[in-house]
Amino acid sequence: MPNTTEISSLINRKSCGKQIDPMPTNEEFSLIMQAAMRAPDHFNLKPWRFIRFTHQTRHQLGEMFLQSAIENQKPQELDEQSQQKFRNMPLRSPCVLLAYCHHTEHPKVPLIEQKLATAAAITNILHATHQLDYAAIWRTGSLCYNPTLHQKLNLAKNQHIIGFIYIGSKDTKNNTPEPKKIDWQDYLQDFANSSPYPQ
Ligand SMILES: Cc1cc2nc3c(=O)[nH]c(=O)nc-3n(C[C@H](O)[C@H](O)[C@H](O)COP(=O)(O)O)c2cc1C
Repeated sequence: MPNTTEISSLINRKSCGKQIDPMPTNEEFSLIMQAAMRAPDHFNLKPWRFIRFTHQTRHQLGEMFLQSAIENQKPQELDEQSQQKFRNMPLRSPCVLLAYCHHTEHPKVPLIEQKLATAAAITNILHATHQLDYAAIWRTGSLCYNPTLHQKLNLAKNQHIIGFIYIGSKDTKNNTPEPKKIDWQDYLQDFANSSPYPQ
């Protein structure tokens, strides 16, 4: 009988929109990041990078979100309430990992593949946090593509934000529903070409 514990963890992972303290310990973070480093990676370029915001630095990130939104939207679109919304975004979790792709010119690995590898690293992070019994969610939104935010974070032209991973503990008061069972058969077909293979 195969050991199905690890695969069950993959099948049962779910995202959680709001998390509470505590965030993973340093030791647990080390495991999470080791899992990220094992994402598939064409030519071993290791294009993924992460910036971690916790405690006070989450407030700084919120301020950067707001200023970036102000510079890229018409001021009248940002009333006091929506300004506060930007400030509070990073406070939805004890820890926010900003994930970006550091693109290296390579004759065989285009930008899209380096972004895909970064996305795969994020997926490993989501699975690792789930296995450690923490909660997480991958978010994007227009801030990912906001040039001011890139500037404020000192990101270079070859560095592209792929997402914000919010990580913390499950809030039992705010339980997310179990994922619905999906008929995987709807997403897979066996190739049914009746013509014979070339001899
Ligand atoms: C590239 C990408 C961007 C996403 N951006 C957001 C987002 O900005 N806000 C959000 O609520 N969910 C976002 N999601 C979806 C959540 O991460 C999550 O997958 C979704 O809520 C479904 O939950 P589940 O992972 O438990 O199936 C994004 C997912 C991906 C892959």
